[in-house]
Amino acid sequence: MKTTLSTQNAAAFASPLLAVFAADTNTATGKDAKPQPRLFTANDALTKAAATVLASGEFKAGLGETVLIHAPAGLKAERLLIVGLGKAADVSIHELRKAAGTAVRFAKPRGIREVAIEFPKTELPAAPSAQAMVEGIHVADFDPDTYRSDRKDQSVQTVTLLCTDSAEIKRGHDEGTILAAGELFARTLVNEPGNVLFPLELGRRAKAELEPLGIKTEVFSTEKLHELKMGSFWAVAKGSENPPALIVMTYEPKNPTSKDVIGLVGKGITFDTGGISIKPADGMEKMKYDMAGAAAMIGAMRAIAELKPGVKVISVVCSAENMPDGKAYKPGDVVTAMSGKTIEIINTDAEGRLVLADGLHYAKQLGCTHLINAATLTGACVVALGMLNAGVFSNDDATYEKFNKGLETSGEHFWRLPCTAEYRDLIKSQIADIMNTGGSRWGGAITAAMFLKEFVGDTPWIHLDIAGVAWMEETKPWIAKGPSGIAVRSIVEWVKSY
Ligand code: BES
Ligand code: ZN
Ligand code: ZN
Repeated sequence: MKTTLSTQNAAAFASPLLAVFAADTNTATGKDAKPQPRLFTANDALTKAAATVLASGEFKAGLGETVLIHAPAGLKAERLLIVGLGKAADVSIHELRKAAGTAVRFAKPRGIREVAIEFPKTELPAAPSAQAMVEGIHVADFDPDTYRSDRKDQSVQTVTLLCTDSAEIKRGHDEGTILAAGELFARTLVNEPGNVLFPLELGRRAKAELEPLGIKTEVFSTEKLHELKMGSFWAVAKGSENPPALIVMTYEPKNPTSKDVIGLVGKGITFDTGGISIKPADGMEKMKYDMAGAAAMIGAMRAIAELKPGVKVISVVCSAENMPDGKAYKPGDVVTAMSGKTIEIINTDAEGRLVLADGLHYAKQLGCTHLINAATLTGACVVALGMLNAGVFSNDDATYEKFNKGLETSGEHFWRLPCTAEYRDLIKSQIADIMNTGGSRWGGAITAAMFLKEFVGDTPWIHLDIAGVAWMEETKPWIAKGPSGIAVRSIVEWVKSY
């Protein structure tokens, strides 16, 4: 799909579908709260064409709500689609993102391949508005039905944003296109089943995508894990016929503007059975998405390759299958991580932290001065925050603040949870330095974070637990159900802040 900008007047633009946004301007509550939808445009012809349907009261301008007018009077377009933004006072760039996506997802099942969108007239800054809309447009075009025999390609081929001639809009458009490509690559990877996307295949796909964009991509396996003494990562990997992949991706800026080196570390469990501490059968098929943290990092690297920030970025992805087998690791085993720390295995289903322990340590050894990791790490995080917010943990307030600031642009929802020293006792082991669970169910997302913290030392670090948000259980007007692409945009914003 391609997005373009045009300065043509919307009324004179010939298109199968022209979309315009509307918001509810009524600020009253209670019985006076009758919606008063108003179009976000200065175009008189559009306002006129929409007047009757807006006056009818049948369209309330709720976020993602739509109403379609065929052969709209006074317009060259075959159809006029009015897309709701919700309450006018609450409209941010994130509502624009969703409304633009809604227009695309409206068109897809109706066989409409070209869409035009009137760039909304708002007080919001132009570049972030354009960026968010372009991201929303591309994200909306994705459907997860890859392996259906009767799959019809319902992609929208072109979306034209009708706007003024503005360098800001152009810049936002170009950045949005890059970020969306990173996000879509991540979603494509997460959508793949475990039999197709095993660890070395993840490495192969990362390399095929990133090397042409100038990212050095190395894919190592068993031998390298032994050479680096990654005993924690290997413990997880050794019960599988499919060998592990240690994927190292390096972005080196031409003209560095910073001495920092940013490390992006991803959990890439291409299937999590739980291992010997096997998971219940119900819902186990979902554990193909246990590599969403890795996908987020690979997607972020794809965007970084094209955005070309002035800071060096190294991404380390630790990919393995977590399987029960004669050779699999067992509860009670003691393993030695690359850092030299010994770990008592209590539960083989707490495997994500084990692969990340070595990934984080290795990223530090490669010279990273700041670390971020993403992982579908704990069910406990889903219990704590539901499916609307992902968890974020940090050992450094200033680093967290930088991450939090980027959420204004990314629009993704992360909620900070603690990982302070008082929790350290919960992962103490009798036989080894630490154990791989907190011993009880309570505070499971926090004890997992405490475990990771053991391997980052004093390096400023962010941990994203995306277990609850990496897979969307419901279709929304602006996005299909399935892989969400969570964290790509927020990670890139954070990297840009360096
Ligand atoms: N991959 C799971 C976490 C998960 C749960 C991801 C739900 C997505 C949705 C992880 O490896 C796991 O199984 N964690 C255990 C840890 C426990 C054994 C301490 C969990 O959360 O139950
Ligand atoms: Zn697990
Ligand atoms: Zn897992």
